Amino acid sequence: MAAEKEARKITTHTLQKMKEAGEKISMLTAYDFSFAKIIDAAGIDIILVGDSASNVMAGHETTLPITLDQMIYHAASVVRGVQRCLVVVDLPFGTYQGNSREALHSAIRIMKETGGHAVKLEGGEEVLESVRRIISAGVPVMGHLGLTPQSIYKFGTYTVRAREEAEAAKLKQDALLLQEAGCFALVLEKIPALLAKEVAESLSIPVIGIGAGHHCDGQVLVMHDMLGINTEFRPRFLRRYLDLFGSVTSAVQQYISDVKSVSFPGDQEQY
Ligand code: KIV
Repeated sequence: MAAEKEARKITTHTLQKMKEAGEKISMLTAYDFSFAKIIDAAGIDIILVGDSASNVMAGHETTLPITLDQMIYHAASVVRGVQRCLVVVDLPFGTYQGNSREALHSAIRIMKETGGHAVKLEGGEEVLESVRRIISAGVPVMGHLGLTPQSIYKFGTYTVRAREEAEAAKLKQDALLLQEAGCFALVLEKIPALLAKEVAESLSIPVIGIGAGHHCDGQVLVMHDMLGINTEFRPRFLRRYLDLFGSVTSAVQQYISDVKSVSFPGDQEQY
């Protein structure tokens, strides 16, 4: 029974098989135990404990302020809610770019202190030494190219990346380098769909898109965006599956009204 349960767990190997079989990979972010439990039980393939926690959990404008300790807190909570899916944890800004020893130290802290299964980091050639070092220690690494939010102050805006030939050529080269360095998968964020198609078809590892079109091997969205918790963020690539902001508002207003009118608690709701 235990072996059967183990066999149903998603691993990096499962994802590779899914790409080879043409089965699309589903990935969503989560940052806490309760949502991770729901999302995992619903059958997701990958939960990303994204550094978007900096935005949607902590209310920062960018992903830059979140710390390694804070990511570890979120990731450990998520892992406690998960039975089946693969849990990938973002290495936050400033914990892997400086040198590869620091990168390895950060990745090891995540693996030891959270129970997560892999790490994700942003960038191509610039971070290759860190990628190689982390993988050589046995930690699976997911790459992230295109719009890389940790570099927002270099880009200046959150618009579509790699529309120009030079940037597209660098992205293709970086994707290949990350695959050769041993990354098990790659996220492509907010790039033209045809460029993402070319990358997904040229790589043997799974390519997961966000705002990168349907030719990718899988899709990822930020949970707060797709559930309609975060109502201000309305990029073209986002599909809303729920109006949780509206539903929660109605429920809270109903509760307030029930308390004020003393219709809650009723006779059956007291001792
Ligand atoms: O932090 C995050 O949520 C991400 C996704 C947007 C891919 O990196």
